[in-house]
Amino acid sequence: MNKVKYFLGIETSCDDTSVAIIKEHNEKVDVISHLKFGQEELLSKWGGVVPEIAARNHLEKITPLLKASFEEANIKPSQLENISVTTLPGLLGPLLTGVNAAKTLALLYKKPVLAVNHLYAHLEAIHIDQKVSYPYLGLLVSGGHSIYFWVKSKDDFTVLGSTIDDAAGEAFDKGGKILNLGYPAGHIIDKLATWGEPKRFSFPIGLKSSADARLSFSGLKTALRIFCEKNPKILEQAPKQYSHFKQNAQDFYDLCASYQQSIVDALELKLRYALKKSNANESVKKPIPIVVGGGVACNSALRKNLAKKYPQIHFVTPKFCTDNGAMIANYGRIHQNKAIEYPACLHIDARGRFINKQDYL
Ligand code: KG4
Ligand code: ZN
Repeated sequence: MNKVKYFLGIETSCDDTSVAIIKEHNEKVDVISHLKFGQEELLSKWGGVVPEIAARNHLEKITPLLKASFEEANIKPSQLENISVTTLPGLLGPLLTGVNAAKTLALLYKKPVLAVNHLYAHLEAIHIDQKVSYPYLGLLVSGGHSIYFWVKSKDDFTVLGSTIDDAAGEAFDKGGKILNLGYPAGHIIDKLATWGEPKRFSFPIGLKSSADARLSFSGLKTALRIFCEKNPKILEQAPKQYSHFKQNAQDFYDLCASYQQSIVDALELKLRYALKKSNANESVKKPIPIVVGGGVACNSALRKNLAKKYPQIHFVTPKFCTDNGAMIANYGRIHQNKAIEYPACLHIDARGRFINKQDYL
């Protein structure tokens, strides 16, 4: 019988402060505490993330969340195998809050720390509760990134293609701003689109005619703005609340569904090119598993459309899609041998941008 192991994950790269503890025993993985403080409400009045405000909120919330997480998991920090923390990419002020919390715990309990690349953790979150073998094609779709990765092993990620401007989540959020919906708007558009007809209006697909896995969403947002300037009456139909169907808002629902469909179609089209690129490797068993993670992977139309075409697709479970501590703790579980021992771990630093792949797993 294997030893019971506990892993702590800390996530503060953007606007969610999240802490989780994972228990591993005989290859069984349990998320025994998963806490999150989201700043959406605070930030919605600014229409997006304000780095300084986000950093201050992380600072205020991280200690109570850590305390509550150990209470909920009913373990002591001394029982941890390691502490994992997002160190890149993200907003520097928010990242530093998490990194300092991790280092403080490491100092107090002489624990190793793993510096985690948030992007890889989003995709590898699939291993929390599903079985997927390597290699796989990973589609990471979040508020800050849209990337097709070739994941050869847990240590080997290669970019097959990515967005050249806005990320898919940004397209949802910026579209939501034009439509006077709240921030972030992805889940709102997703909900309203369920009452709409996705083929009613036609929106462009960025880089449609380039035969590669690059994406572009900035033109789509502009097309929506121009459409709304030409059809201002549709915006008057915008519902005040999103949980119930509203009469006389069909045009608005159709608009949401059509805008969303264009994002889904773009991701699906470029997935085909990404698969073509990865299929070039003949030694790989077919069909190649596909993993979709990141906040936009919650989107119901994306899930439905891709699942219809690709039976070998796996979506990260929704609660592990948007930024969360469980995916970070899980990364620490997968890469136990890569955590930096105390006291060397006290030199771990945060970096806003993804600069050198070799520095991180
Ligand atoms: O992964 P995430 O929490 O943060 C980043 O790492 O960026 O993703 C946040 C993004 C936001 O843009 C949000 O609008 C989007 O995920 N999102 C969705 C849905 N739920 C969250 N987009 C479309 N449909 C959803 N259901
Ligand atoms: Zn994220």
